[in-house]
Amino acid sequence: MRIYKVGGAVRDRLLGKPVTDIDWVVVGATTEEMLAKGFRPVGADFPVFLHPKSGEEYALARTERKSGRGYGGFTFHASPEVTLEEDLIRRDLTINAMAEDDQQNLTDPYHGQRDLEARLLRHVSPAFAEDPLRVLRVARFAARYAALGFTVAPETLELMRQLSASGELEALTPERSWKEISRALMEDQPQVFIEVLRACDALKVLMPEVDALFGVPQPPAHHPEIDTGVHTLSVLQQAAMHKQSLTVRWACLLHDLGKGLTPEEEWPQHIAHEFKGLKLIKAVNERFKAPRDCQELALLVGEYHTHGHRALELKPSTLLELLQSFDVYRRPQRFEEFIAACEMDARGRKGLEERSYPQADYLRGAATAARSVAVQPLLEKGFKGPELGEAIKRERLKALKAYKEAASA
Ligand code: CTP
Repeated sequence: MRIYKVGGAVRDRLLGKPVTDIDWVVVGATTEEMLAKGFRPVGADFPVFLHPKSGEEYALARTERKSGRGYGGFTFHASPEVTLEEDLIRRDLTINAMAEDDQQNLTDPYHGQRDLEARLLRHVSPAFAEDPLRVLRVARFAARYAALGFTVAPETLELMRQLSASGELEALTPERSWKEISRALMEDQPQVFIEVLRACDALKVLMPEVDALFGVPQPPAHHPEIDTGVHTLSVLQQAAMHKQSLTVRWACLLHDLGKGLTPEEEWPQHIAHEFKGLKLIKAVNERFKAPRDCQELALLVGEYHTHGHRALELKPSTLLELLQSFDVYRRPQRFEEFIAACEMDARGRKGLEERSYPQADYLRGAATAARSVAVQPLLEKGFKGPELGEAIKRERLKALKAYKEAASA
């Protein structure tokens, strides 16, 4: 039995990056031998085991054949005869298809090291097409390593294009897709993920609502970059530069979907795009079964981002409605995330990246003013039930009027 380190651990060590997960491949062993050594099997018919102490994954060298559509459609062939080279050739990218023994001797039959130096994400073999998730993986790696100068090799992009056209992407489960999407959004250059998906026509399969934004103009006075797709990518880039959370990044990606629905005659205006976009945001949320906090924030940012930008001009009653919609009294963090997304939206515009955003502090101040209304004195006055609710609202409105006056004084 020979054991090698494979995949990301080898790649990242060669790149000088920190290695977190280590995957191992075992050549020349049987399932029975692994069990006898105390390894725990991961699944019934899956030749992967967990190390009894470290918990790291050890996979028997295997060849994989696709026998049907979707993720279930795999048959594995693992046997002691499968060589290391046969195992490596079925992997996604050359830079992920290197192995290392315990002396750090590299096995690199598909020239991963050469591609690391050339900064190329290149598929190993036609077996790439056996797992359509790899289209998303390559786009994610492109986002992660963009700062190092990596790009997708033209022949790999072509293969990704064929996969996108084949209908295979539709067979991915929401869970697998979301895992890639959410990881990609948390990379330093998440906009590259979207760009690569667009370049191989996967974006129009996975998120046609986002794809539709490219080529849609906006008024140059507010949007010097003009194109709504370009704007969306810049907003995402700003969100990453400002180290925003996944929820904020997801909301940034989806905030302007409504602009894709505007009839051309109305361009570059997008009247009521905030409201029109909600059904699209909902559809994308549900398609990938995004976590509830991501779904909620995306819908709220979609509906209210223009309110955020106009915060200083809003009437106290409109401010109050905004705060109520966010339930800012019980969910202050969610309102903070809304403010962050609005700020990223304001900065994700050509030449305006460094602008100040006084709306942020103004909105925070308004939330504090509304929250400072005490309920106890109203209870003491005898208000209860719906009347109490109305009384609290009146007091909050008063507080917001005073706040607005003080702020504009
Ligand atoms: N792999 C693959 N195709 C997939 C998933 C994984 O070929 N759809 C192979 C690659 O060789 C990859 C290895 O399995 O390097 C381990 O996969 P994983 O742990 O998902 O990714 P890493 O490459 O380790 O990358 P990350 O740093 O993103 O975890």
